[in-house]
Amino acid sequence: MKVLRIDASARVAGSRSREIADLIEKKLMQLHPNTEVVVRDIINNPIPHISQEKIEAFEMTQPLTDEQKPLLQLSDELIDELLAADILLLSVPMYNFSVPSALKAYIDHIVRAGKTFSFDEQGAVGLIEDKKCYLATALGGVYTGSEFEPMNFLTGYLQGLLGFLGITDVEVFQLEGTDFDAEGLPARKQALISQVETMQVR
Ligand SMILES: Cc1cc2nc3c(=O)[nH]c(=O)nc-3n(C[C@H](O)[C@H](O)[C@H](O)COP(=O)(O)O)c2cc1C
Repeated sequence: MKVLRIDASARVAGSRSREIADLIEKKLMQLHPNTEVVVRDIINNPIPHISQEKIEAFEMTQPLTDEQKPLLQLSDELIDELLAADILLLSVPMYNFSVPSALKAYIDHIVRAGKTFSFDEQGAVGLIEDKKCYLATALGGVYTGSEFEPMNFLTGYLQGLLGFLGITDVEVFQLEGTDFDAEGLPARKQALISQVETMQVR
């Protein structure tokens, strides 16, 4: 079993989302001791923003020139790495109501027509098959059931995006109130630990 782990928190120490991902990884290792974990470090080795030249290369239907070929190299590498994994383990903090830009830059490299999605007569088709995703999120505030719920553009966005690519089997582990609910946090954390204990593994 091959796991691709991507941590999106700029905090490398004291990160709640990484902490949840650590628990999930530990559980996976317990259940499948031969699991290989590949880490794509988008914080220490950031993915650049896409550029005009890259967009043009992504959209090319004819073979690229030797000059253009390097433009696809990183995107191809990231897509191959993702396709090679059985499991995607993603840990993501909420930044300004959505995903950190480090993760968005990654996403802009892996969402590619003809590679990870396409269209047919029925509409959009996700081309990534047979993958499970564990999504660990940490949100400073409490959104579920609160007046701020519509401002959570993180969880639904990622579920929608992954589904668009064909990754529909997504299990969400969400820790809310990491900064603004000190009183409720221990119980929320305990609930997550229980969720990890009983999580579905293939
Ligand atoms: C740049 C930045 C922006 C943030 N924006 C929000 C936000 O919009 N809403 C929120 O509830 N918390 C926000 N937070 C708080 C984080 O979501 C919270 O600290 C979370 O635990 C971060 O994940 P981590 O512990 O894995 O780093 C923000 C934190 C940072 C550093």
